[in-house]
Amino acid sequence: MKTKINDIQLGYDDFGRGPALVLIHGFGLNRTIWLNMAHLYLKGFRVILPDVRGHGESDAPSGVYDMSLLAQDLAGLLDHLGVGSAVVAGHSMGGYIALAFAEICPKRLAGLGLITTRTEADSPEKSADRFQMVREVQEQGASALADSLAPRLSDHKAIIQSMHKMISGSSPQGIIGALKGMAERPDRTRILATLQVPALVAAGEQDKIISLEKARTISQLLRQGHFVSLKKAGHMPMLEVPSILAGAFKKVFLES
Ligand code: MLT
Repeated sequence: MKTKINDIQLGYDDFGRGPALVLIHGFGLNRTIWLNMAHLYLKGFRVILPDVRGHGESDAPSGVYDMSLLAQDLAGLLDHLGVGSAVVAGHSMGGYIALAFAEICPKRLAGLGLITTRTEADSPEKSADRFQMVREVQEQGASALADSLAPRLSDHKAIIQSMHKMISGSSPQGIIGALKGMAERPDRTRILATLQVPALVAAGEQDKIISLEKARTISQLLRQGHFVSLKKAGHMPMLEVPSILAGAFKKVFLES
């Protein structure tokens, strides 16, 4: 489905019954990464899957995609769907958006999920790498990002191949907007201690992008933080260990 939010068309799915659970995909990807896990294992939730601006079926306007702007897109989508508050969970870049949502709409946050993600800002080196990637995507298109990112997402060949295809098919302008937005995002670690809602922090033991120990530290800063260390998972637990990740969502947000 699609709807106009903040002057752009946003793609999304909305299905199931129960407390609203928003799942935000990571950089260069789209909402389809959640579909299998959600349909098979997330019964009991109303699942809302947005395509982040610049990704999937959403429009990719020019400009910097500040994480707060992406969180405002999400707030607009929830308004459109008549959802007052929701558990908001984000994967990697989606986690940066979930934290920005927690910052700007704290009353609408029923729970927070941080899935293979981090809270701190980019280091100067990481930020410089992003601008290098902006140049490569300008010159070579989305395949420059696919070649660099897909092999680091998982140890499973089939997942690497399908993510490579997904990233290669995404909008260069969308990738560039997100790269610039991530490069200038602030450290949002301080938000963790302010949250009064249940939170799930999930980390993959084979993740090549996010440190397991840093994820554990994040969970300790949350008042109601639950940490799950996922064996046999890298950066893509929703594809690598979907039933285990979904079980953690149910335990933290339905049963506790
Ligand atoms: C992601 O998977 O969303 C990205 O690796 C996040 C990032 O580049 O910081």
